[in-house]
Amino acid sequence: MNALPDDLAHDRHRPRYHFLPHANWMNDPNGLIHWQGYYHLFYQYNPHGPFHGTIHWGHARSADLCHWEHLPVALAPAPGDWDADGCWSGCAVNADGVPLLFYTGTSPQRQLLATGSPDLLHWQKHPEPLIATPPPDIDAGPHQDFRDPYIWRGDDGWYMVIGSQDVGKGGVILLYCSDDLLNWKYLHPLLRTSDVQNFPIWSGSMWECPNFFPLDESHVLMLSVWDQQVTYYPVAFTGDYAGQCFTPRRQSRVDWGGCFYAPQVLRDADNRALMWGWLWEQRARDAQLAAGWAGVMSLPRVLSLAPDGGLLQKPAPELAQLRLPAACAGVALDLTGASDALSAVHGEQLELWVEFDPLSAAEVGLDVCVAPDAVHGEHAEEFTRIAYDATRGVFYVDTTHASLSATAFHEIVTAPFTPQPGASVQLRVFVDHSVVEVFVDERVCFAVRSYPTHPDSLGLRPFARGGQPRFERLEVWELQEAI
Ligand code: FRU
Repeated sequence: MNALPDDLAHDRHRPRYHFLPHANWMNDPNGLIHWQGYYHLFYQYNPHGPFHGTIHWGHARSADLCHWEHLPVALAPAPGDWDADGCWSGCAVNADGVPLLFYTGTSPQRQLLATGSPDLLHWQKHPEPLIATPPPDIDAGPHQDFRDPYIWRGDDGWYMVIGSQDVGKGGVILLYCSDDLLNWKYLHPLLRTSDVQNFPIWSGSMWECPNFFPLDESHVLMLSVWDQQVTYYPVAFTGDYAGQCFTPRRQSRVDWGGCFYAPQVLRDADNRALMWGWLWEQRARDAQLAAGWAGVMSLPRVLSLAPDGGLLQKPAPELAQLRLPAACAGVALDLTGASDALSAVHGEQLELWVEFDPLSAAEVGLDVCVAPDAVHGEHAEEFTRIAYDATRGVFYVDTTHASLSATAFHEIVTAPFTPQPGASVQLRVFVDHSVVEVFVDERVCFAVRSYPTHPDSLGLRPFARGGQPRFERLEVWELQEAI
């Protein structure tokens, strides 16, 4: 843990236990690797300001997934180098004890390599690109969208996937193989938009940041859907992999909150699949410039597969180390009981564990970051709502009233959701200043941003409409600062 400069320590919207650099811009997690007992997190970083540009690889490490130590920048673009316009996303590989970073240099986009010292602090760039252009039968567009290498060791050699587009046809993930990690041979697309047209989630015009890994009995191809016109989001395809071919069986949205992007997965020494994603800001550029920082990492999430092939995500159990003694703990409460229990708790660094009977009311959930309307009047109230709507069969997070600031974006994000028959719904919520991260039954996740203006928008309250809600469990902890 590193002490924050004074001006940042007073910034109420700056997260205190989600990872972010001291200042400036951060986007994608990169090169995640568990190395000699430490989780190493590299990330897209602009040391020159809180905006995307002159992209470097920032670097931090943690022994416990909670406390992070900032380390020197690992990769910097250099004039005359193949990455002169930026060191874009990529992965780390342990090549029989030698640490390697594979990444994309711009412009144009090409795949590059750097070799690390044993402590991962010094990186030597390879003199030539490993893959200089996309395959000739792919039209990657005017900017040659061809980026974000992800590598794994197969039974018969090394494999790499790269995200790209084939203009007019949509996104494509390109598969390569190698015996020595230096010479790469293009095989074929591992997946294209035309292969997944029958799945419900729209797949945009370009695919970036692929990850491909075995999970339980299946394989998962996770990628980030990009499109100039619309929004961006990551999706995961679960399916079978055999003979260098992937057959997707199921598709899921990795996160429904609208600010979680470019996730990357790390296998740790216990063989857990841990995932982090970039949470971007949901406020105007001027507010980001004034804050001096932009972009936060999600909490580490442990992945597994549901019996139906869906992706399950839960916050890494190590995060429980951050808990202070429980601020509130209740069982079998009605609305009044839950209101009373929650009225005693306030905070900007909270973890909530709530279980409720989804059949007990038409809508059930809770509000966080609540300013008391008794103080501010009904129309000056701020709150962020997290709720299940049985009538529509959806779970949603509503930031329409999260902030009275004109610079904050307001939206309602919604995911289809059907409770498990006969079971309560389990809701885990992490509030960290401007970050609210929500896990519903481990099956549906939302990361949203909330920038309240009132100093007392710190409260909690249960929410229900149309019925007598029943809260089976209500537990809240304040969490310690960790960054
Ligand atoms: C995803 C992304 C990557 C790229 C990087 C550049 O957010 O666009 O595809 O490598 O960011 O910073």
